[in-house]
Amino acid sequence: MTSFNVKSEDSEKTIVCDDMSPSEWDAEEILRTHSYPESHQLVIHRGVKVTLPPQILAAYTIHSKLASGTFGSVFYGEEKSTRRPVAIKIVEASMTKTISYNGIKIPKEAALLQKIPSHPNIIALIEWAEAYEKHWILVFEYHGFGRDRLKFTLRHYLRNVAKSRGKRGLTENKVKKIMRQLLSACHHLEKHGIYHCDLKLDNIVVDTEGNLKLIDFGLAVEGEKGRGRIGSIFPPEMYDHYIPYELSTAQIWVLGTVFYQLFEAAKPYHEERVKSKALGRVMFSRHNRPSNECVELIDWMLKTEPTHRPQSVSRVIEHCWFMCA
Ligand SMILES: Nc1ncnc2c1ncn2[C@@H]1O[C@H](COP(=O)(O)OP(=O)(O)O)[C@@H](O)[C@H]1O
Ligand SMILES: [Mg+2]
Repeated sequence: MTSFNVKSEDSEKTIVCDDMSPSEWDAEEILRTHSYPESHQLVIHRGVKVTLPPQILAAYTIHSKLASGTFGSVFYGEEKSTRRPVAIKIVEASMTKTISYNGIKIPKEAALLQKIPSHPNIIALIEWAEAYEKHWILVFEYHGFGRDRLKFTLRHYLRNVAKSRGKRGLTENKVKKIMRQLLSACHHLEKHGIYHCDLKLDNIVVDTEGNLKLIDFGLAVEGEKGRGRIGSIFPPEMYDHYIPYELSTAQIWVLGTVFYQLFEAAKPYHEERVKSKALGRVMFSRHNRPSNECVELIDWMLKTEPTHRPQSVSRVIEHCWFMCA
């Protein structure tokens, strides 16, 4: 076990983590621009104010802003009855997909999460509500630096490890630990007919032990076929705008990209190459080159032709690289 310091705006704390973690971590500072606890209104973005519904005000204390996006913000808070930390996501209703259930509109992100049984690597939704100013409020369990209330995604994790190792990328063992969890989450979703569709480093939150949870189901879909570009990592077939493609094999490509990023902190191919479908084998820098089994698996996941990739998440999990210790 290693202990390391985390600097937040008003204090410096020592946290204990597993021995593969770096000695110095800086998670992104939370935005302490307002004192929220007594306020009924939150400033979301571009000066837009949202009035919290009474049941949300009664149940949670809001401490600080975790993240600010174009169509909403995420706040760090605490459930009053249990004192457990929560993440409260507030998004513009006009920018959010909804589904109708018995004549009632539900944000799709909440509806899909409610449908699947809980999983240790998928963020748990606690509740959702509608705000007067046409915004949705979704309350999730918080996962990250716990009581230190810091924003910590897989991107921050990679950045910190690079700093402490003096070179980019994670060790092969660490990558295996992360990929096992990510694949387990995706396998669980796939079993229930759901694809996340926005898998990327910023949508995976991590704690100090490297335990991760998948967040942000805003683009998630139910079904087997996709059409057009979804998310921010595009496999070659997503550039064929009008041709429907299999979500399962498109997701394998995206997972292969995240897999590669864990070693190289960069995407395997430039967009232009993906578009042109002239890819060739993935290249690793000499200092990061993983074992042959691992390179073979990444290469398989990143095949140009979807039918040449593993056809499901379970095929990836069964690969010999995961089987050996
Ligand atoms: N449950 C959570 N626990 C910890 N941090 C979270 C949680 N949900 C969101 N965040 C933080 O807020 C950021 C934005 O949340 P996200 O759901 O991805 O919204 P957006 O749709 O704006 O991308 C994430 O990158 C993460 O840093
Ligand atoms: Mg996101």
